[in-house]
Amino acid sequence: MKRDIDLDLKQRAQQVLPNGVYGHESTLLLPETYPQFFSKAEGAYLWDADGNKYLDFMCAYGPNLLGYADPRVNEVAIAQLAKGDAMTGPSPAMVELAETMTDMVSHADWAMFCKNGTDATTMAKTIARAQTGKRIILVAAGAYHGAAPWCTPMPAGVIDEDRAYIQTYDYNSVESLEAAVKTAGDDLAGIFATPFKHDAFTDQALPDPAYAKRARELCDQTGAMLIVDDIRAGFRLARDCSWELIGVRPDLSTWGKSFANGLPISALLGSDRAREGAAAIYATGSFWFSAVPMVAALKTLQILRESDYLEHMLALGTQLRGGLQDAAASTGIGFRQTGPVQMPLFLFDEDPDFRVGFAWSEAMLRRGIYVHPWHNMFLCQAMTEADIAQTIAAAREAFVEVKDNRAALEPHPVVAAMFSAMAAE
Ligand SMILES: Cc1ncc(COP(=O)(O)O)c(C=O)c1O
Repeated sequence: MKRDIDLDLKQRAQQVLPNGVYGHESTLLLPETYPQFFSKAEGAYLWDADGNKYLDFMCAYGPNLLGYADPRVNEVAIAQLAKGDAMTGPSPAMVELAETMTDMVSHADWAMFCKNGTDATTMAKTIARAQTGKRIILVAAGAYHGAAPWCTPMPAGVIDEDRAYIQTYDYNSVESLEAAVKTAGDDLAGIFATPFKHDAFTDQALPDPAYAKRARELCDQTGAMLIVDDIRAGFRLARDCSWELIGVRPDLSTWGKSFANGLPISALLGSDRAREGAAAIYATGSFWFSAVPMVAALKTLQILRESDYLEHMLALGTQLRGGLQDAAASTGIGFRQTGPVQMPLFLFDEDPDFRVGFAWSEAMLRRGIYVHPWHNMFLCQAMTEADIAQTIAAAREAFVEVKDNRAALEPHPVVAAMFSAMAAE
């Protein structure tokens, strides 16, 4: 695999970009050979700056839902770009998009659009407080809701006051949720929940319906807002809010990443219960009203309604899960696949510092398959049965390779340093 261009870019980036690249898109916490820079993406495939091609199971960390550069979406986006994007106010598409999303998402009566997931979750938090006149927001420990001081997983630059009224509970635990609500007393503004537990570095867990229903009941009893953060999973589990699958309707839900198939737009949807709070807050951004992502979203949502994209991803995910299970079992290596099949996470048994997972992922990368060693992955509509068969074949070889080399594997220096810092805390 050619790496010269990427290595040169990484070196130059160190001079002009903090950490080379920041956030979870940085390769600092990935195997050393992972490329940082990409030059092209089409369908289910990705090309790095050196021209190496990969079948991409990260889908841009979610935004790629139909396939990169989907021609149906690109066509309307390019036509709108020629007409106008950021203008002095929104285009008519904004009203149509709000109508479309409130039609598709059962709990929603109104919509607000923004750019990133963090915009939407932060706005949800503010609206919950504006609506209830209360302060405390409950979040599940370890859940990711974005990069603002109130929710970032990194403590640098965050002061206690940024999180003064953010308290935690354990995902899927009715007991822990009830205790947190009790502690909040009459100051509870909202409860955040991701549709399933999709925290990094740990096995994923589907939501226990008893927990989700109890969260709804507690919000009904206290007047607090229930907020489902569907930014990562939205429209990958259902053509509705993900918790519709377990019969629980939130007051607010946050959306991002995929509903314009990668064009920059996120959304906050709300029910009438939260309408006053939404109308009361001041919320805007220079690019929040841009027309291009809105027409792209309308086209994407039309395709989601009219195609079998979801059933297709479920079928491929099932094929992948079974094939990998068999391949791992035949090698005798302990391999865990968790979460919905269309959003899988792969971890290895007896691999506390992830060295086996890192080596296996690198072995997959060498075979042209881009997988992630500690973050959930994403399937997209553009993937085919042949892609999945190719992945399973590569995985079979990669399992054998790591099993044979296991004794010689070294821990990843940055990951090891992170774990020892966490252990010292
Ligand atoms: C569940 C969840 N919430 C919020 C966010 C933040 O979204 P963004 O990175 O677009 O700000 C993410 C991003 O990964 C996410 O997965």
